[in-house]
Amino acid sequence: MAGLFITFEGGDGSGKSTQLRMLVEWLEAQGKTVLVSREPGGTELGHELRELVLHRRGEMAPRTEALLYAADRAQNIATKVRPALERGEVVVQDRYLDSSVAYQGAGRVLGRDEVRELSLWATEGLLPDLTILLDLHEGLAKDRLAESRPLYDRLEAEAAEFHAKVREAYLELAAAEPSRFLVIDASDSVEAIAAAIRARVGQLLP
Ligand code: TYD
Repeated sequence: MAGLFITFEGGDGSGKSTQLRMLVEWLEAQGKTVLVSREPGGTELGHELRELVLHRRGEMAPRTEALLYAADRAQNIATKVRPALERGEVVVQDRYLDSSVAYQGAGRVLGRDEVRELSLWATEGLLPDLTILLDLHEGLAKDRLAESRPLYDRLEAEAAEFHAKVREAYLELAAAEPSRFLVIDASDSVEAIAAAIRARVGQLLP
């Protein structure tokens, strides 16, 4: 495919959205046409799926959750991302299939391989050209969340264990596909991180 597909991954509070915005500004300054996207919720239908999967009250079975993320992904890739890549554009996306593998796989009910297979089925096998993993060690993630959300509470503290699992999964995914991943220490300065990302993306631009 003619375009370039770049995804951002990382735990909550890793600075993903700031870095994504800075990269998009830089790409546009280089004269590139950029499609900015996110999962879940990158399409109109996806917006409704996002509400369901993130905000609906009541129990949701692990397979239901995995399928909702996969449904959102299928719609996003088929209707937005693939057409943009075929037009030769750069797609920069907040989260993709590695989020499913790391988060849904971390619940211990579903295996990482089956979650990945489900996503690949949903997207007809589309993998990113580059995945930027903003790796945040646990203590720092907690501090940043506490700063941005005064209501940091016991529930979120309990979630810390889950986030440690998610981080571990991300690092293993990156180690398994070193040429697709750029792993960055999210505790570096915003400018240093942005520069490292630009250097890597610059190598991929035609
Ligand atoms: P979002 O508000 O986009 O958070 P963030 O700023 O952390 O990206 O919420 C996305 C949440 O959904 C996040 O906690 C990770 C989770 N998620 C999954 O569990 N599986 C997935 O496949 C995706 C795309 C996201």
